[in-house]
Amino acid sequence: MTAVHSPRLDVHLNAAELDAALRAEARRGLTTTPKDLPPKWFYDRRGSALFEAITALAEYYPARREREILADRAGDIAALSRPQTLVELGSGSATKTRILLDALVGVRTLSRYVALDICEEAVHDAGMAIARAYPGLAVTGVVGDFGRHLHRTARHGRQLVAFLGGTIGNLMPDERHSFYSRLRATMTGGDHLLLGADLVKSPGRLLLAYDDRAGVTAEFNRNVLAVLNAQLGADFHLDRFDHVVRWDPDAEWIEMRLRSRCDQVVRVPGLGIEVHFARGEEMRTEISAKFRRSRLEAELELAGFEMVRWWTDTAGEFSLSLAEAV
Ligand code: SAH
Ligand code: AVI
Repeated sequence: MTAVHSPRLDVHLNAAELDAALRAEARRGLTTTPKDLPPKWFYDRRGSALFEAITALAEYYPARREREILADRAGDIAALSRPQTLVELGSGSATKTRILLDALVGVRTLSRYVALDICEEAVHDAGMAIARAYPGLAVTGVVGDFGRHLHRTARHGRQLVAFLGGTIGNLMPDERHSFYSRLRATMTGGDHLLLGADLVKSPGRLLLAYDDRAGVTAEFNRNVLAVLNAQLGADFHLDRFDHVVRWDPDAEWIEMRLRSRCDQVVRVPGLGIEVHFARGEEMRTEISAKFRRSRLEAELELAGFEMVRWWTDTAGEFSLSLAEAV
């Protein structure tokens, strides 16, 4: 008889802290001028599903490009990093991760996979799927914010930290710098970071990727309002906001905003406030920074990482960097 391993997944929740953070960040974002909300709050179950739908859109090239690089380079990544633990930040559905896991299983060093994501459903579903598909692997899920809970990812031996999808671009520059430094502090010399980053390219191509014809990205953008309705009892009418996308050529980032279609007051009982939106007023909901190799390399170096490999897809649209903690 063959032994049947039942998949085991340990999930660490930081629910009270995440709830407090949502309250503090929503209060600040809705009462500051101009209003802005951090993009991490897009991702409830529906937001995560909408992001997955975005990755299948013809206009949204990053997911396909990154998959192409991973398929070509997973063997090199495994041979260079030889980790015992793969830690994935902002793991989402962790579908591309399997390309990496297949190669890592091949070098026979890997015993543990740790997925950290702010979306509880994503951590649970992806963790279970990976535990089932890789029965020899210990799988841990951490529901948390990679800006606050990096230290909650259990460390065992040499590690490879994967941060895929270009999510690094969703952090503001100051957050990005402190993220790299705090991440480096959780790593030991010789550990590796695998970083997916979208590259600067023509504004036309970028704007289309964030404003698809089917309107999926618009729905994803408005989902942050649905999250505030569900979590804080707010009464946002999603159809009173338009999806707006801009390219900032100086900062080299895409901005997503929600523009109020009318003069309106939104009640947010969970915060005990009412928020006024003027007709045409825009609230920023996301930045998605686009990179150049020199900037990435310099920022990594500043935090104690040396870029040891740099790969792009054949069209040169997206990058994957392998950096060593030095
Ligand atoms: N890595 C996956 C998913 C990218 S989408 C891919 O490449 O397809 C971005 C993911 O990061 C989502 O799953 C979202 O829930 C998560 N996320 C966004 N901000 C986060 C934060 N501050 N802390 C933890 N996870 C975050
Ligand atoms: C998760 N992140 C890298 C996506 C991006 O491209 O910035 C989120 C997204 N926003 C709109 N479309 C996709």
